[in-house]
Amino acid sequence: MQELIEKIDKSRLPKHVAIIMDGNGRWAKEKGQDRLYGHFHGVESVRNIVEGAVELGLEYLTLYAFSTENWDRPAHEVSGLMELLVENMKKEAPVLKKNNIRLRVIGDTEMLPEHARNGLAEVLAETKDNNGMNLIMALSYSSRWELVNAVKKIGIDVAAGKINPETINNETLEAYLSTSDFPDPELMIRTSGEFRISNFLLYQLAYAELYFTDVRWPDFRKKNLYEAIIDFQGRERRFGKTSDQLLHTGVSH
Ligand code: IPE
Ligand code: IPE
Ligand code: MG
Repeated sequence: MQELIEKIDKSRLPKHVAIIMDGNGRWAKEKGQDRLYGHFHGVESVRNIVEGAVELGLEYLTLYAFSTENWDRPAHEVSGLMELLVENMKKEAPVLKKNNIRLRVIGDTEMLPEHARNGLAEVLAETKDNNGMNLIMALSYSSRWELVNAVKKIGIDVAAGKINPETINNETLEAYLSTSDFPDPELMIRTSGEFRISNFLLYQLAYAELYFTDVRWPDFRKKNLYEAIIDFQGRERRFGKTSDQLLHTGVSH
């Protein structure tokens, strides 16, 4: 592990890493268990990765925990996930405080059951003055929901005369997204072998480096995060330019 950490160039860390935590169900099934058993063990990975991210000095970590589409899963799985969410929010609040982590949430939290909403609101309030890492939980989140919502709000403000539609640009739209306080992720990791984005941060991932691993989320640990970051640091991010142009400006991260 120490060897891996030493391979990471601390001066070129991504500021923001986003993770699609996938594979809990398959992990459980492979063990002959109920899907919820997988979600339960996935929480341990969340703990471990949050700790690893803080130790490295990441500024933003976004975790896709529950999508808009996940509401359509069997009721027993949805309610089990909500229980896990509430329980662990409460349990982890002191750890977040101790580590100076500020919890943030993106997504349609109105959809969450009341006890989950309340539990979340408490932890958001308790950590709001922390100025260490931002831990952003994507809950009841989907990118299409977010974009449609943003367009709706922009439409309302145009109709009210607050925005001149001719002046709308990237910054305008970004200000209406639920990620308006955060920089775009430079690195997006998806566990468990699927090569897709599944409605996650479609706008914000425009120039993110994508990293896919077969490791199921309940098995994902700091070591795997460090490997992803080392891989990221070996890539050339061109942002549409040529390699030569990057050499001349010296910017590749
Ligand atoms: C990710 O694991 C957790 C959530 C989507 C809530 P899955 O539950 O999607 O696990 P698989 O993909 O079915 O294995
Ligand atoms: C994406 O995983 C959502 C989360 C990890 C919360 P899914 O398991 O829901 O995505 P699909 O169905 O494989 O695309
Ligand atoms: Mg899945």
